[in-house]
Amino acid sequence: MVTGYDQVRAVLADSRFSSVPPAKAGRPKADSAAQRARALLTQHMLNTDAPEHTRLRRLVTATFTPRRVDALRPRIEALTAGLLGRIPRGTEVDLVDAFAFPLPVLVIGEVLGVPPADRSALREWTYRVGSPADSLPPGALDEAWSSLYTYFSSLIEDKRRTPGSDLFSSLVHTELSHHELLAMAFLLLFAGYETTMNLLASAVLLLLSHPAELEQPYWPHVVEEALRHASPLEATTWRCTVEDVRLDGTHIPAGASVLGVLAAASRDPSRYPEPDAFRPQRWAGSASPPSLAFGHGPHYCIGARLARLEALTALPMIFEALPGLRLASDPAHLSYRPGLLVRGPRTLPVHTDPAVPTTT
Ligand code: HEM
Repeated sequence: MVTGYDQVRAVLADSRFSSVPPAKAGRPKADSAAQRARALLTQHMLNTDAPEHTRLRRLVTATFTPRRVDALRPRIEALTAGLLGRIPRGTEVDLVDAFAFPLPVLVIGEVLGVPPADRSALREWTYRVGSPADSLPPGALDEAWSSLYTYFSSLIEDKRRTPGSDLFSSLVHTELSHHELLAMAFLLLFAGYETTMNLLASAVLLLLSHPAELEQPYWPHVVEEALRHASPLEATTWRCTVEDVRLDGTHIPAGASVLGVLAAASRDPSRYPEPDAFRPQRWAGSASPPSLAFGHGPHYCIGARLARLEALTALPMIFEALPGLRLASDPAHLSYRPGLLVRGPRTLPVHTDPAVPTTT
């Protein structure tokens, strides 16, 4: 495990740390339909190195341009307003279930051009493939992999026949093969949804437990600090050394599995003084080094702009729409998502104030 800020950055920029999962014990064995589906869906660009990675990434960055991402803002505002409008007032609500969970799925649904009726199934399958098998009913994990595979296969066929204005339709009409498109759809969904859900839930939790920060919030700094303090991805994907490497005096043999722990790097005291304090002001004047929450180097998150846009749009709208919002349980007693990769509260019980009747 690599935990220091400089060391994690060095690993992520160094091609001697390969992103291709080693073909050894622990890899899925393709001996059932579900395992074959899983093996295909996980052959995405996050699991490749240059030059394969460069080719795949170039196609996505040509589609995911800042202009096209920014154009999603009115849809994000409308989806946020729709979800907030359905939150019951004057009672206790789970803000993960009512908001942080559905918003990123709806947004990724826009990116992939998934019809609204299919979005809740997508949300459930994604939740399952992101959970450790022993936290689910028997068979549920296999079923989710197979369902995602079947669903994306037919989505690709639909987009070939009738392309929409969504970003995924543009990808379907590039040189990507059917299997590459399947893996790409899966990666966009998986990378784009759980992570953003955790950012939203953690940011609301941090603000409600640091009410002074809500007095005059400067949202870009709030979002950067939530990304740092609550790192929605606890670690990068596994890297594997292709040769012996000396990292900051430590010898790492060839073939070693290496994990860059983003959550630890983001609290490295040599880079972020008082790292455990939630202090949005530390980002004023760019006094802090760039966040590692979205990774670094060739695999730097393609969705960083979209994720920031979602948080910058949704957070102010939440606090405006729900005045008097407060925690309904002690933050120390909240349970967190199981597993090593993603980090965020499973539920976020809050109290909402009764709606104030509008006077005309
Ligand atoms: C708060 C939200 C997000 C966080 C914290 C996050 C974090 C990350 C990190 C740390 C990586 C690099 C992993 C590694 O090097 O092993 C990554 C890669 C990636 N992310 Fe995100 N992400 C977020 C949202 C999104 C969204 C919304 C999308 C898509 C719509 C997305 C798509 C991707 C893709 C495609 C990659 C792979 C890039 C490559 O392999 O070149 N992410 N993300």
